[in-house]
Amino acid sequence: VEKTFIMVKPDGVQRNLVGEIVNRFEKKGFTLVGAKLMQITDELAKEHYGEHKERPFFGELVDFITSGPVFAMVWEGENVITSAREMMGKTNPSEAALGTVRGDYGVTVGKNIIHGSDSPESAEREINLFFHSNELLSYNKQVNTWIY
Ligand code: GTP
Ligand code: MG
Repeated sequence: VEKTFIMVKPDGVQRNLVGEIVNRFEKKGFTLVGAKLMQITDELAKEHYGEHKERPFFGELVDFITSGPVFAMVWEGENVITSAREMMGKTNPSEAALGTVRGDYGVTVGKNIIHGSDSPESAEREINLFFHSNELLSYNKQVNTWIY
């Protein structure tokens, strides 16, 4: 089954949106297979956002993502990578549709509440970066027979 890496960023944790975000993914029908509240180190931040290292806002991005605890998660389900990106909304909350996390709760691009992997390759990379294999569980939920 497909897996993706989802993270409530420091602004989302501070604004008490962890429960709301978990709730949305649970109700959609996806399965949580790993989760932890953690402080991202400078080194992990630079690795995670490596693709943006030449961007003018890279320093700001690293400072922001290390500015407080994040809630890191791995979610599983059919087409979960693309679905999660749709549930998050566009990168800039001012362009994100209502009904999406960023559209409903965000205002500025620098504090856009949630991260989600953007491809199967980045999902694999980010899951391995944030989680040890023994932190990910494999289990069946009875409700899945009503989803699939
Ligand atoms: P992530 O899920 O966080 O990776 O967002 P994304 O995939 O929708 O966007 P992208 O990977 O292109 O950018 C990564 C993050 O950089 C975004 O989520 C924003 O928080 C931040 N970012 C993008 N553009 C700007 C900008 O112009 N200024 C600032 N401060 N941050 C930006
Ligand atoms: Mg991205």
